[in-house]
Amino acid sequence: MSAPAAPLRWRSTPVAMPLAGEIEVPGDKSISHRAIMLAALAEGSSQVDGFLEGEDTRATAAIFGQLGVRIDTPSASRRIVHGVGLHGLRAPASVLDCGNAGTGMRLLAGLLAAQAFDSTLTGDASLQRRPMRRVIEPLARMGARIEAAAGDLPPLRVRGGATLQGIDYALPVASAQVKSALLLAGLYARGETCVREPHPTRDYSERMLAAFGWPIRFAPGRAQLTGGHRLRGCAVQVPADFSSAAFFIVAASLVPGSRLLLRAVGLNARRTGLLTALRLMGADIREHAPREQGGERVADLEVRHAPLHGIDVPVELVPDMIDEFPILFVAAAAARGTTRIRGAAELRVKESDRIALMAQGLARLGVDVAECADGATIEGGRIGGGSVASATDHRIAMSFAVAGLVAAAAVEIDDCTHVATSFPGFLALANSAGFALQQAPAPDAD
Ligand code: S3P
Repeated sequence: MSAPAAPLRWRSTPVAMPLAGEIEVPGDKSISHRAIMLAALAEGSSQVDGFLEGEDTRATAAIFGQLGVRIDTPSASRRIVHGVGLHGLRAPASVLDCGNAGTGMRLLAGLLAAQAFDSTLTGDASLQRRPMRRVIEPLARMGARIEAAAGDLPPLRVRGGATLQGIDYALPVASAQVKSALLLAGLYARGETCVREPHPTRDYSERMLAAFGWPIRFAPGRAQLTGGHRLRGCAVQVPADFSSAAFFIVAASLVPGSRLLLRAVGLNARRTGLLTALRLMGADIREHAPREQGGERVADLEVRHAPLHGIDVPVELVPDMIDEFPILFVAAAAARGTTRIRGAAELRVKESDRIALMAQGLARLGVDVAECADGATIEGGRIGGGSVASATDHRIAMSFAVAGLVAAAAVEIDDCTHVATSFPGFLALANSAGFALQQAPAPDAD
């Protein structure tokens, strides 16, 4: 999306006071993307509450506007989507820009492959480096015609008019994005589409398809549907995003004396691996008032400071905490002893190479980190001050903002503009909880 003239730098200063209070983080990014997509393809209107007003999810909403779907915004975090039905999308007049969103691009590749018209999906510099073969290859087996740039990278040119055939596909790598792209294409395909996963991933597409009235069978690690049914508009309540809550969960665990309450956090079992890992490290996290909201389990999380120690992160937890590794690196750096992360090679193809970025950044802050192909070994204990690079990755920037809270001196983070892709208002919310986070002058103005 549009970049500002001067990169936005942050300075996170160590705090003397505990973090305290009650906060609610913005809506879930994965669910917000899917809500717009399914509501657009439904018959009738859908109201989406708790919609994430982030750049990624707004890019998806804007794309459906280009595809002829009327989406009203009666108030912040609410969308009324006037669905056009499965066959009601119109050919876009221009290229569709997914911004920073891998979820947007991969899911749309599946959906657009089934349309009568051609379309082109593009994105920002980070998204243009992300691998698309993982969706192109199985979609091509279904009959889709998608051309990518050299190396199977975006932009993707999606040819319309293809007749899709259902597929029985075993994913080589656990990926909710690829699974969801195939299920969306499967809505239009002849026969059955069955996706099998090497490890279960977030099942938001499956749950939401069921909520919109599509017959679907799913269990952890497997989802099956047939084409030719209808989606019916419905109300979607988006819970607070666990991945956004994660920064505060670690922050309150690290700062002595802290007690934070995070309201109504989405606790889908395929997202909460970080809670298990942090509890193994000694964290004190309690769940209050567990309830169901819009078909998802949510609870209020109370986090109290607790001394953390290093662990070997259980490999089977990796898919359930795939977006939380940047903040786990920070927890590990502040913990006593050694933390080993393995089996997490997927981190190298996220918004940035998250293994390299976190290892380099922590090393600049004086932490002893050894990178390996699928993870890292972190010797915890002391985080120093210094200046780190985020490579425009939102989660890297927020993770180093947390590191600054407990560092020996301020941590400066270079380009934080992209935090708005997933967490608009992070700086203000963090400061309301007790962070000391400011915009920093450019280095040459110091
Ligand atoms: C997402 C799935 C995950 C995750 C991403 C959001 C989704 O990606 O990392 O932030 O909404 O389906 P993969 O499917 O590539 O693992």
